[in-house]
Amino acid sequence: MNLAGHLKHSVFQIISSIAKEEGIEAYVIGGFVRDLLIDKPDSLPKDIDIVVIGSGIEMAEKVKRAIDEEVPLAIFKNFGTAMIKWGDTEVEFVGARRESYRRDSRKPMVENGTLEDDQNRRDFTINALALSLNKQNYGDLLDPFDGVKHLEEGLITTPRNPGTTFSDDPLRMLRGIRFATRLEFTIEPSTFEAIIANRERIRIVSQERISDELNKIMMTLQPGRGFLLLDQSGLLEIVFPELHAMKGVDEVNGQFHKDNFLHTLEVLDNLAYRSDNLWLRWGALLHDIAKPRTKRFEPDNGWTFHAHEFIGAKMIPGIFRRLKLPLNEKMKYVQKLVQLHLRPIVLSQEIVTDSAVRRLIFDAGEDLEDLMSLCEADITSKNERTVKRHLKNFQIVREKIIEIEEKDSVRNFQPPISGDDIQRAFGIPPSRSVGIIKNAIKEAILDGEIPNEFEAAYQLMLKQGESLGLTVQNEKEKGD
Ligand code: CTP
Repeated sequence: MNLAGHLKHSVFQIISSIAKEEGIEAYVIGGFVRDLLIDKPDSLPKDIDIVVIGSGIEMAEKVKRAIDEEVPLAIFKNFGTAMIKWGDTEVEFVGARRESYRRDSRKPMVENGTLEDDQNRRDFTINALALSLNKQNYGDLLDPFDGVKHLEEGLITTPRNPGTTFSDDPLRMLRGIRFATRLEFTIEPSTFEAIIANRERIRIVSQERISDELNKIMMTLQPGRGFLLLDQSGLLEIVFPELHAMKGVDEVNGQFHKDNFLHTLEVLDNLAYRSDNLWLRWGALLHDIAKPRTKRFEPDNGWTFHAHEFIGAKMIPGIFRRLKLPLNEKMKYVQKLVQLHLRPIVLSQEIVTDSAVRRLIFDAGEDLEDLMSLCEADITSKNERTVKRHLKNFQIVREKIIEIEEKDSVRNFQPPISGDDIQRAFGIPPSRSVGIIKNAIKEAILDGEIPNEFEAAYQLMLKQGESLGLTVQNEKEKGD
């Protein structure tokens, strides 16, 4: 097979010319070739890997000189690699190598090798495909490990013995699951067996790398499949014990609860279909995370998971810290989704009062749309009529939200009277009384007892102040 037609970009031409001048061989390899064979994209992908039979660093330096513009070049002497950033494309250069590994490290000992040695050391046959950049056979596909056949068959397997491949670099177990999920491929049985056998070795991989793979799995079209494979391989229990604890079904007096793990994966896939917001997807993955901890069987009510939304929200910082996910507003957003995930459901089951909707808008603020998407994704009944009924109820909640938003402005609610206003009016310092009055005003607005306006709030402040034994020191200023 010849793919020269897809190697028109100047970077390939430049490498090809330098390779000819210097009398060395150069190839493009890895993800670029794999994705080219899958999608045949028109635009150049962001990452290109070049392997040179010789020094990758010297090739990179020559390519930099040959490109007219100022392009940044980073040299990693220890790894024998170099990278050029040209526009938003990163071109990485490496010399063809053989690798051998020690048991306790992912860092290989390296010696020079042939192209085939270099293809052989790679993780999967579909990632070991190379295209020649040499003038005599420019664009020719070099595929000694049947990568094309495996692409056609939808198979993830390794060039070498899979046990060696995964033991050498255990991150590849997660990569394999990620590729299987993203490409909707099957992991070849003996390859999967080798993942199961080597699962404990994932412990030598840094958490950042693990979470990077988890995030990549999260961003696929059907991330649930990836988590199922993680579970079947035994990796889930090691890298995500809280999720693993959700597995299984208990029975008391002939009553079962649903398998919360499988339900969660269904919710995640439903949500992924609606949104590619990574953190909303995390919200879906974690929305029921406290169910194992809160599970009780109550003779009168059957299986219950009381307060799992609150306890779940409390578990989020610990999980994010361990997974080295950001401990910033992204985490707070996930916490909020977990904590509020039952609210629209409760609303949709009851007669929807204005004040309940107003409170939901107030509590969810700008994340209300995302919360509604999560709740809709959370409907996983097998009964189509039940699903339709729930979705219709959510539609009623959505309409009510629009109606209330038009009447009151409670989203991003700023109380019409601030703490400062209260202190000034009664001539008091910051104190408990200020908090009590402020809260009473907020509650009255959310309950619809008073409108979200200054005058009504001012009158309520006076009444509340009076009941706390406070007297007005400063009359309100006109136009306040
Ligand atoms: N590779 C490997 N083992 C790893 C990581 C990478 O053998 N643990 C090899 C594979 O041949 C891979 C190439 O290095 O194709 C480039 O790695 P990377 O850029 O991380 O992955 P891609 O395959 O390009 O895929 P993606 O960009 O989608 O992650």
